[in-house]
Amino acid sequence: MKTKAEASAPGKVILLGEHFVVHGEPAIVLAIDRRVTVTVKVRSDSRVFIKSEDLGISGFFKNDQFFPQRGDGEAKRRLEPIYAVAKEIIQKCGSNNGVNIEVKSSLPIAAGLGSSAAVSVASAAALCSLFDFKESKDNIFQIAFNAEKIIHGNPSGVDPAISTYGGILQYRKSKPIRRLHVNIDLPLVIGNTKKERSTGTLVAKVNNLRRRYPQIIGKIIRAGGEIVERSVRALREGDLETLGELMNINHELLSAIGVSCMELEKLVHAARNAGALGAKLTGAGGGGCMIALVSPEKIKDVADAIEMAGGEVLITRKTDACLLYTSPSPRDLSTSRMPSSA
Ligand code: PMV
Repeated sequence: MKTKAEASAPGKVILLGEHFVVHGEPAIVLAIDRRVTVTVKVRSDSRVFIKSEDLGISGFFKNDQFFPQRGDGEAKRRLEPIYAVAKEIIQKCGSNNGVNIEVKSSLPIAAGLGSSAAVSVASAAALCSLFDFKESKDNIFQIAFNAEKIIHGNPSGVDPAISTYGGILQYRKSKPIRRLHVNIDLPLVIGNTKKERSTGTLVAKVNNLRRRYPQIIGKIIRAGGEIVERSVRALREGDLETLGELMNINHELLSAIGVSCMELEKLVHAARNAGALGAKLTGAGGGGCMIALVSPEKIKDVADAIEMAGGEVLITRKTDACLLYTSPSPRDLSTSRMPSSA
């Protein structure tokens, strides 16, 4: 057993298909080069100490009881999923030692960029490395997915999947994940409304609407899936104009199911007016972030327009970002859930 290990996992943007993916439709998701890094150390006692400097919270877990050290009532809720990851791996390894877990992140939280999943994935990977436990990437995905269920209730799994496998994926619940090989650049301007929101609450809101209007919402959900299928073709053909148009339609469908908000609408319309090929909310909505697909010569105009409309700008493009071990990996990780590419 090592005394210290570290791993880092990327955040993400959902290009198309959020919410509809919870109801069995596909989504397209991209890893971005903003990461979460988790450092873990073995303790001599059996406690699990977790600290997030960025959030200003920390505390101990002992026999499932939480003892806050820094931060308010939020600390337990935010740290519990990390504890669940640690508990599962410590139990699997049969270790009597606890751990210190330190999280550092360059991702905004509760903004739709996948920070909670990246924390779970990086924690699982760092802990497996610490205990020399030979877990596959598929198992790391599963452990992180279980932790996401504690936070979000009924998530699709798209966030832990992209944080684990990286790149660009077509994700569909309970189906093999397809890696999309995209030969064109995908310049994206991300606009953050800086309005925090809860994914679980927004997913529940859509569930509720679907229960009340099954025929209508069912059709919108299926249309969301068709947009993704059509977008895969546009991506393969390098047709960014069609992709932008499909992103606009996708946004209007998300608006129709009640997950947009005034702050997002302002940024989306500012981006479109400044010449974006397409713009939509990304992630759960209700605040958080939007994305604009932009031709390279328009990046500055669109970024300025988003800023003028009150958004915080982040520019990203297609990356190969994926889960990384910054200390030696327990072994070359296999990925059996990913047999197909397109
Ligand atoms: O938590 P967020 O904002 O990254 O949203 C995740 C995407 C949803 O489709 C809204 C939820 C899910 O589990 O797929």
